Amino acid sequence: MKLTILGGGGFRVPLVYGALLTDRAEGRVTEVVLHDLDDSRLYAVARVLNEQAAVVPDAPRVTATTDLDEALRGADFIFSAIRVGGLEGRAHDERVALAEGVLGQETVGAGGIAYGLRTVPVAVDIARRVARLAPDAWVINFTNPAGLVTEAMSRHLGDRVIGICDSPVGLGRRIARVLGADPKQAWIDYVGLNHLGWVRGLRVAGRDELPRLLADADLLGSFEEGKLFGVDWLQALGAIPNEYLHYYYFNREAVRAYQQVEKTRGAFLADQQARFYEEMKRPDAAALTAWDRTRAEREATYMAENRETAGAGERDADDLSGGYEKVALALMRAIARDERTTLILNVRNQGTLSVLDADAVIEVPCLVDANGAHPVAVAPLPDHATGLVCAVKGVEREVLAAAESGSRTTAVKAFALHPLVDSVNVARKLVEGYTDVHPGLAYLR
Ligand code: G6P
Ligand code: MN
Repeated sequence: MKLTILGGGGFRVPLVYGALLTDRAEGRVTEVVLHDLDDSRLYAVARVLNEQAAVVPDAPRVTATTDLDEALRGADFIFSAIRVGGLEGRAHDERVALAEGVLGQETVGAGGIAYGLRTVPVAVDIARRVARLAPDAWVINFTNPAGLVTEAMSRHLGDRVIGICDSPVGLGRRIARVLGADPKQAWIDYVGLNHLGWVRGLRVAGRDELPRLLADADLLGSFEEGKLFGVDWLQALGAIPNEYLHYYYFNREAVRAYQQVEKTRGAFLADQQARFYEEMKRPDAAALTAWDRTRAEREATYMAENRETAGAGERDADDLSGGYEKVALALMRAIARDERTTLILNVRNQGTLSVLDADAVIEVPCLVDANGAHPVAVAPLPDHATGLVCAVKGVEREVLAAAESGSRTTAVKAFALHPLVDSVNVARKLVEGYTDVHPGLAYLR
């Protein structure tokens, strides 16, 4: 079986390859094709994979190419994990927004819109090529903003593109753990959009254990989301939000904290990653060791500013690794080998949330088998959550429309309608600021 990884020179590729190395079963991936625009990044990552493979018999063969069509042809699965504009682009997304006093996060608020506007045209081009060159392949989309990008690709690939994120699984795992339940045995009642969902229940042996957690302040305050959102707020909500909702519920504090840091997350990662890729150019560098050290530092500092404003302290050691690669591998296995399982994925709504149309991509538990991912019926969201989900989906639709038409006016509309952008004037300035710094937005006229 052949797996193609777009963004194959990306830093998290060794996580995926590491997961593939643990799979010894019949029908596993035997061939990995890395595609990237940048040769030196491919070379760096290939060095790490080479060291990973050295201690494993029959490791999947790895090849690398900068030719997209060649990479796609003959693929059974395609992982799309690209970052249009690189980490410098992410740093610009943050800076431009913060200068206007609004959030510039990678996927949330103004930053997420800017990132979406330059990623959607590239993702659509990929989707069109996949439809032409590898029509039977399954595309697993990691590319952020994952819900929006998956929806853009689904217009060309239908249900053959499935979006993934590690945050709902991580959340479910933490809640199960704090309740003393086995995460594998628990049914997690989670729904929303990517980075905008809520856990409303957690069933073990048919019983909802979440009320027990919500009623116990000590237990509730003992894990990541309890520390981040505060016990009182979780009790008031009666649900556990995805960590990315911190940017909504504590927006002012998040913006202020991000404005005060010397380096934003994107700027920090741009430097950190540049050092890693530089080091990989040295022939004597210990690739796997350097990669692992860089990864550990990246994980330990994830969402550090949010945790600081909340006084949440360090991350729990158990939470450090998100587990993207495990979700991706579980999804691929379920489809390739008809190993039925349930995973929280980004798929077309198809009536699951009655407030959204059938084609809106949502994040929801899905039954997965050889026929793909099928969203499971869930209870409706409470009104406050419906409000946010509909507002943000409305914004995503403006982003998709702007990417299709190239209309600057539509791009302004996308920013202006976002609940975390508080003025049409700010939206106009954001479009100016972003088009000034991002060559990938030159199409907006
Ligand atoms: C989580 C999210 C991803 C996001 C990543 C950012 O894993 O689910 O969607 O890309 O965090 O982590 P970073 O280290 O790049 O800040
Ligand atoms: Mn994510």
